Amino acid sequence: HFDGHDEIWLFGYGSLIWKADFPYLERRPAHIHGWVRRFWQGSHDHRGTPEAPGRVATLAREPGARCHGMAYRITPEVLAPLDVREKNGYLREVITLCFDDPAGGRAEGLVYLATEDNAAFLGDAPLDAIAEQIARAHGPSGPNRDYLLHLAEALQALGVEDPHVSGLAQRLLADPVAAGRH
Ligand code: BEZ
Repeated sequence: HFDGHDEIWLFGYGSLIWKADFPYLERRPAHIHGWVRRFWQGSHDHRGTPEAPGRVATLAREPGARCHGMAYRITPEVLAPLDVREKNGYLREVITLCFDDPAGGRAEGLVYLATEDNAAFLGDAPLDAIAEQIARAHGPSGPNRDYLLHLAEALQALGVEDPHVSGLAQRLLADPVAAGRH
C-alpha cells in the first residue's frame, strides 16, 4: 500500500533509537545528511501537559550537517499505528539514509519530523532554558528528563557525539534544581 513497496526503511533519531515498540525485520545504525537533531518540538501529550509542555527531538535543516540514528526495516503495515504520532505535529518525509555499519551503503527511507508549521513547535531557546523546561515537564509517557537521558545514553552507546543532546544532559545532571530533584 505504500507506493507499492513491501518493505521500507524508517529512520529514528529520537525515542525510536532506544524504544522500538513495533515489529521490525532488521535494525542498522545510520545517518542522514543536511539535518540536525534539536529539542525544538513541544510535547503536551507525551512528555508534558498543555499547561507545562515538555520538549522532544525534531530535525532542523542544516546544510553540511549529519544526524545519526537508527534505521529499521519494516513492512508498511507497521506505519499505520506509528502514524498516531502525527497527532503531535510530526509529518513523514522521504530521505536518503547512509548506513554506519561495516556493510555500509545507502537506501531511501522515511523519517518523522516536526516543523515550525505545527502548533506544538517551540523552536530554539538557550540550552539552559531548554534543560530547565525538560527538568520540570512530566506527561503520560513519563518525565521529560527520562526521554532526554535515554536519548543521551543511546547516542553514547552508538558512539555518536551530539553536542546539543549531551549539552542538555550535562545541564540536567549537573544542576539539582534543573534535574528535578528539588
Ligand atoms: C524518532 O525517534 O525518530 C521519532 C519518534 C517519535 C516521533 C517522531 C520521531
